[in-house]
Amino acid sequence: MNRRDFVKIATLSTGVLSLDSSLVRAAEYGAGSTLAEIQRVKNPGKLSALEKKHAPLIRLPEKILPGQPFDLQLSVGQTLHPMSAGHYIDYIELYIDQQPAGRCELRPGFNDPVVSFRLRIEGPAVLRVREYCNLHGLWETRLDLQPG
Ligand SMILES: [Fe+2]
Repeated sequence: MNRRDFVKIATLSTGVLSLDSSLVRAAEYGAGSTLAEIQRVKNPGKLSALEKKHAPLIRLPEKILPGQPFDLQLSVGQTLHPMSAGHYIDYIELYIDQQPAGRCELRPGFNDPVVSFRLRIEGPAVLRVREYCNLHGLWETRLDLQPG
């Protein structure tokens, strides 16, 4: 192998390793978090029907203080997504600054797609909420949080 071939292989390897890190993170929680494409709202001012039904919603208290606990409520859909045997939300998960911070698995017939977590953050953080619909795939909403 000459130097040119080595550089080409190294470049190809880098390309493979630089897969969208969000896809890799989607697999961190194991079963159900496959390498599915993550869907997000494209234009917040004009949601499609699928976006209205699947984009995770994040509800926060009006005031969040650094280091103080607060309750975060996550839900799926502007009107709650169905939870029937054939069409349901499999799980809702939370990441804080790209670290897994919580996950709730749901079951049709028992749960609505609404979960809560009590959190405590020390400073600015990026929240990512993901949910997985058995028919419509993986969806994410991101929120930059600034306590204080
Ligand atoms: Fe769905």
